[in-house]
Amino acid sequence: MSSLFSSSSTSTTTIVTPTLCTILLILLNTINTSHSAHHRQLSVDYYAKTCPDVEKLVGSFTSEQFKAAPAIASATIRLFFHDCFVEGCDASILISSNPGSKELVERDAPLNKDLPIEAFELINKAKALVDNKCPGVVSCSDILTISTRDYVHLAGGPYYEVKKGRWDGKISKASLVSSNIPQTNSTIDELLKLFASKGLTMEDLVVLSGAHTIGYSHCKYIIDRIYNNKGTKNLPPNIDPKFLAALRMYCPHYGGNEDIVVPFDVTTPFTFDHAYYGNLEKNMGLLVTDQALYLDPRTKPIVQSLSKDKQKFFQAFAQAMEKMGNIHVKRGKKHGEKRIDCRVHM
Ligand code: HEM
Repeated sequence: MSSLFSSSSTSTTTIVTPTLCTILLILLNTINTSHSAHHRQLSVDYYAKTCPDVEKLVGSFTSEQFKAAPAIASATIRLFFHDCFVEGCDASILISSNPGSKELVERDAPLNKDLPIEAFELINKAKALVDNKCPGVVSCSDILTISTRDYVHLAGGPYYEVKKGRWDGKISKASLVSSNIPQTNSTIDELLKLFASKGLTMEDLVVLSGAHTIGYSHCKYIIDRIYNNKGTKNLPPNIDPKFLAALRMYCPHYGGNEDIVVPFDVTTPFTFDHAYYGNLEKNMGLLVTDQALYLDPRTKPIVQSLSKDKQKFFQAFAQAMEKMGNIHVKRGKKHGEKRIDCRVHM
């Protein structure tokens, strides 16, 4: 799929005169590659014969849950991101540690501790609902991917087709989390390196960060920014003074309630739109990493172009989510499994 931010690339073709032998080799290669490519590829109609109603089943549940508690939308989107960046999109984040086992799983890692329990439960319940109709067919990772798309859309964002066929991963280790999930003090260079290691570009970084158009952050992630500014205690530059005053009111320096959260997008906190980028232009980005996208000359033009054009953001977001949904996908019994209970590795 071509990027919305760059012109399409051209390819050069070398013409050779093939012998019978090279024709045979090419044919053999084509058969092999098309077979293995097919094996790896996800498809929209993967469950057409085995569980044709999977999206309807998940969809009725996600919309019911959204009506009851809209905050489930941002929680699920973040859960999906944290799953895909650690060991690929394989629902390894859903696995619970064995009672008595010393080995901690992904969800026990400090960076995953804030993920609301409701988002984990939602996927388990949706899986049970699907398994009622088509037992053992649909993976937890496909259900997480479908639910995420549903919530992007329910919150006002784009609807996009979800390619399916992921198997669930067998590996879930807390020790793999901190090096694979961005930190709030990461530099743009570090973010670019991390995203590149997942096959994602600079555009993808800016576009996917636009998920911060909904949802909340706990005060602990901004305390250093709004009070200390890297230990200097100077007023942080590149933050709107009124915005800063409001953040300080909600998030006191010492002794505040640890459960207090502040919205990422103060203008339209519940709507999935492109206001996130407009906020960055007004120095109203919440995390250091959000505002840095507007400060860095490499990413600033992308922010500016997305803040002008909601449709462009929606199209780019849908594309980038598909790309993220492809990270290190597992297929087949060698590397994967179809879990019955998403929390339990078989
Ligand atoms: C680029 C670097 C990123 C950093 C440093 C970052 C960091 C954070 C932090 C610290 C929070 C607050 C968590 C809490 O207090 O509970 C958060 C929330 C969130 N993040 Fe990110 N994030 C990044 C990228 C992304 C991406 C790529 C996505 C998805 C495509 C995403 C989706 C979300 C969502 C939806 C929330 C709100 C969660 C909620 O309301 O429960 N983030 N992020």
